[in-house]
Amino acid sequence: MSNEEQSHLPVPNPQSAGALADRPPSSMAFPQSGEYRGHHDEDEINLLDLWQILVRRKWTVIVFFLIVTTTGITASFLMTPIYRAGVTLLIDREPPKVVDYQEKEVGVAGGVGLNNISVVDPAKIPLEFHTPNIPLNTLVAMLLGLFGGIGLAFLFEHLDDTLKQSEDMERVLGLSVLGLIPAISRPDKSLSGEGELALISIEDKRSAFAEAYRSVRTALQFSTPEGAPKSLLVVSANKGEGKSTTAASLAIHFAQAGQKVLLVDGDLRSPSLHRILETPNDTGLTHYLAGEATPVDISQPTTIPNLFLITTGPLPPDPAGLLGSAKMMSLLSTAKEKFDHVIVDSPPVLGLADALILGNLVDGTLFVVAAGHTRRAFAQGAIKRLKMGHTRLLGGILNKFDSRSHGYGYHDYYYYQGDSPSLLSSDQKVA
Ligand SMILES: Nc1ncnc2c1ncn2[C@@H]1O[C@H](COP(=O)(O)OP(=O)(O)OP(=O)(O)O)[C@@H](O)[C@H]1O
Ligand SMILES: [Mg+2]
Repeated sequence: MSNEEQSHLPVPNPQSAGALADRPPSSMAFPQSGEYRGHHDEDEINLLDLWQILVRRKWTVIVFFLIVTTTGITASFLMTPIYRAGVTLLIDREPPKVVDYQEKEVGVAGGVGLNNISVVDPAKIPLEFHTPNIPLNTLVAMLLGLFGGIGLAFLFEHLDDTLKQSEDMERVLGLSVLGLIPAISRPDKSLSGEGELALISIEDKRSAFAEAYRSVRTALQFSTPEGAPKSLLVVSANKGEGKSTTAASLAIHFAQAGQKVLLVDGDLRSPSLHRILETPNDTGLTHYLAGEATPVDISQPTTIPNLFLITTGPLPPDPAGLLGSAKMMSLLSTAKEKFDHVIVDSPPVLGLADALILGNLVDGTLFVVAAGHTRRAFAQGAIKRLKMGHTRLLGGILNKFDSRSHGYGYHDYYYYQGDSPSLLSSDQKVA
């Protein structure tokens, strides 16, 4: 592709990407929350919302319930027991008129008045104490624990300012959601070690994780009239939100679709793509940027057909300076000529200039949010920085999404159990 052609490269328009929000293709894998609610009024707090909050915060409720109940029961047992016994007495108003002489003698001698009280029903020694009432105290403690736990769950929810749902991303960040990636709990860690989550897409193409990224790939293909942007940057506000996993997974999915893909590790501070794709990192981007290697020297084939990787190489003292050099720009424009897609992994946006620099060298940027982890203020700050740096934001990806706690009925288990295709619901099947 000539330079002139490059200048006419489709510029991903946030507005056109925004149109995806009406019906993002990612909804093929996950029903979007708005769709799920359908008839519910958005502003109205409905029972389903409340229930979802409780499911999400179930551990708060359970722990508080157990603490209060245990404390109540223990306190009841530690209290000094009080026993109660009853006796029925008959008291005559009138003292007996006829007094036995001997009885009178005894009464006078003992200083005791005449006895007009008689025991009708004598007191029995109680077998059980009167207080504390353990069954009642237990019941009260359980109710207090339950309602207190529910109250605490709602309080925490109110104080929690993390982004959790796709509507949060649309409403708070103004980003169209290009995909919801399920939070993966890996019961069998031998299948993929820590940091190699992206390889799930290779190990099991039918996994929920693979389906979700296939869906993102489809969404990207519709994000511009010319298809998916040739060069893509994956960013997020902070560390550990899933940039590298997303960059690697998308690269794998484009490669699986038969497109020639170059994945570039642009995180010159905390590189991880070489680990994820199990390639050596002896020679890499920094060698090329320092003029010690050519692009051909540093792009390594991977075990995945059509997928090539440029690792970072040794970490430099001034990553931003290197990334902003003319050589980096030239590398990316050459790569766009040779590959169908160039996907660049980035360090976090906040506190570093690297992502802003890289954002200006690519055709579009994907913003990753970790559901329930990324705080609104941080994400908003990052988006503001990206916009100020004139980065072309294509949309957002909500990663580590716990679908069950949002009532999607979409399971986050590693593999679909068994081979039955019926386990894939119709909305999970993608073109
Ligand atoms: N959908 C997911 N479900 C569960 N764990 C995930 C998911 N996506 C990523 N992770 C895990 O989160 C951790 C961080 O992911 P990753 O390295 O991709 O984030 P990052 O944004 O690139 O981090 P850094 O800023 O440190 O480079 C990894 O252990 C990864 O396996
Ligand atoms: Mg990373």
